[in-house]
Amino acid sequence: MPTLVIVGAQWGDEAKGKLVDVLGSQASLVVRYAGGNNAGHTVIADGQEYKFHLIPAGILHPGTRAIVGSGMVVCPKGLLEEWDRTILQKKDLGELIISSAAHVVFPYHRMLDSLEETARGSNKIGTTSRGIGPAYQDKVARIGIRMGEFVDPTRFAARLKDVLTAKNEMLQRFGQPALSFDELYAEYSAYADRLRPFVRDIEPMVAEAVEAGERVLLEGAQGTFLDLDSGTYPYVTSSHPVAGGACLGTGIGPRHIDSVLGVCKTYTTRVGSGPFPTELDNELGDHIRTIGKEFGTTTGRGRRIGWLDLVALRHACRLNSLSGLVVTRLDILSNFETIQVAVGYELDGERIDYLPGDVDVLARVKPIYHELPGWTGDLRPCRSMSDLPENARAYLDFMAEYTKTPVAIVSIGPDRAETIIVREDLIWG
Ligand code: IMP
Repeated sequence: MPTLVIVGAQWGDEAKGKLVDVLGSQASLVVRYAGGNNAGHTVIADGQEYKFHLIPAGILHPGTRAIVGSGMVVCPKGLLEEWDRTILQKKDLGELIISSAAHVVFPYHRMLDSLEETARGSNKIGTTSRGIGPAYQDKVARIGIRMGEFVDPTRFAARLKDVLTAKNEMLQRFGQPALSFDELYAEYSAYADRLRPFVRDIEPMVAEAVEAGERVLLEGAQGTFLDLDSGTYPYVTSSHPVAGGACLGTGIGPRHIDSVLGVCKTYTTRVGSGPFPTELDNELGDHIRTIGKEFGTTTGRGRRIGWLDLVALRHACRLNSLSGLVVTRLDILSNFETIQVAVGYELDGERIDYLPGDVDVLARVKPIYHELPGWTGDLRPCRSMSDLPENARAYLDFMAEYTKTPVAIVSIGPDRAETIIVREDLIWG
């Protein structure tokens, strides 16, 4: 039963989109299990650049069913724009399916996201302002509107009327004008009409694929340390990017997960607020941001940059029970004389080798670095491990040894072809 989870092993933006595209060609089902259009996945295929925020990158493969999973929160307008843009770029796409249990993001969610952020003042989280937190709040409060209801005109009208009354009260508390039911219903009914053919219960379909032994890829968004429970709370997103979230967001039980690959960069980035022990808030960080083009796909914000934090990565390996690492952006670290990796932290004069769970404590740690020799040259033409410079291989070996997790795949450029499969056996279980 080859069911594979792909999870971000850092703070998101690890280049999961490219990997899902590469492996999506081998899967009959690709299901995204969490988040919304706070995520941004860029895929470069056959010289074309595709940007996805909601649709699983597996859509680029005809014959693959690309599923917007039950654990997601979906902006209908954003989804339709993405769909229209993608079919203009490529005619032969996979089949798009949207879970009837996914929650709908409305304009009041986006407005409240921005208003709540402003109200946090200096404690702001640095959210993407896509309404993600407020949409998940509604889900937990059991007042959210799910896709199944959204595409049923009678139920949608009744639910929206109810919810909008409460939301308008909240908006008014922030001094904002109330939203008009008629306008909102008219606009969103038109989206619902277009989305209706794509919406269905996904759980039986996913279960049948798993039972039939088909290859099922469960695609994560964001990253381990943005997880609501396991991340650097409260500087986290409102969903479950960790591998456990794949079960919740797709309806698959844990016994059916065969392999979990954790995607990590050769350095670390983070968007938004929160502690970041190996951050390089200096010229070196600026240099890596520039050569790595580390600007958000969704918000365009410059990402915070730091050295690779192996203490955090090992924690991610444990939290997700990773079968293997997918190491991306090795090409970006070429031409550094030496490279630092954090192998421990100093906390109040003592050495610790774990990631503290409390953000105030995490903010106090100082990384203890191990220095590795760099390498030179353009790695993008490399197609096997033996093509890589010796010191680049030694860097990968050091990561694997410290985290006790083998390297399964190495990415040395944005194109599909710029991928080295190291351990085929770790991919589909
Ligand atoms: P939200 O998900 O918009 O609520 O934002 C919460 C935190 O998660 C913020 O620090 C965001 O910058 C971060 N975040 C959300 N989505 C992503 C992503 O796809 N990549 C990196 N950071 C993200």
